[in-house]
Amino acid sequence: MRIILLGPPGAGKGTQAENIIQALNIPHVSTGNMLREAIEEGSPLGIEAKKVMDKGALVSDDIIVGLVVERLKKPDCSNGVLFDGFPRTIPQAQALDDANIGIDLIIEIQLDDENIIERMSGRRVHISSGRNYHVKFNPPKREGFDDLTGEELIQRDDDKREVVEERLVVYRNQTEPLISFYKAKQTNNDLDYLTVDGSGSVESISQFILNFFRNK
Ligand code: AP5
Repeated sequence: MRIILLGPPGAGKGTQAENIIQALNIPHVSTGNMLREAIEEGSPLGIEAKKVMDKGALVSDDIIVGLVVERLKKPDCSNGVLFDGFPRTIPQAQALDDANIGIDLIIEIQLDDENIIERMSGRRVHISSGRNYHVKFNPPKREGFDDLTGEELIQRDDDKREVVEERLVVYRNQTEPLISFYKAKQTNNDLDYLTVDGSGSVESISQFILNFFRNK
């Protein structure tokens, strides 16, 4: 099963991804996490990507599509994949179609801007795994440290308010058109489309999504 998690920055895609990949036993392919790993490694891609990400803009479609195509060649993707933060533009979605990489389900998480800003300002991240926490809504067991590895959590540079505001503009202009793109495919019965209210608790949203799979 190939699934796309769609929604604005900070809507809870990465948080919900954790439960979905465990339930379905498929890998989490997050282009944001892949780029942050490249930044941590200090690779040429990471150095270039950081400049773009810190402004709240999007990394070029060619680079992103190249990263994803390489990732999909790994054997763990043979039974399916959960895309998070990809595709982010119509050309990226078109690249999946052109490569005959069919999508079975879109999960769109909806959240208003006020909640988004509150969530991102309190977000803390474990870089090597991509696990997300929130100082108030989803705190780690030990403040400042990852639950599983005990390693330090960081605050993302692009979670500053002015960058978040720019990311929201970029989302509306470049990513939101994917909603109509994929709803048209739903109308053609090419895929399922699940809309999720992202304003509930992490647990209630997770139950809602997992119930959808149980009833399939
Ligand atoms: P990326 O990392 O993909 O960022 P994003 O899509 O903007 O999404 P986020 O990771 O910010 O949010 P999320 O929806 O995963 O929310 P989370 O679960 O963390 O991309 C970063 C950058 O990389 C982009 O700006 C771009 O430059 C580049 N990039 C990446 N992919 C690209 C692509 N395909 N093309 C081009 N460029 C690309 O939750 C947020 C917070 O809220 C957390 O603290 C969490 O604990 C908390 N929370 C979650 N759910 C709840 C809840 N129900 N109640 C209360 N708190 C909650």
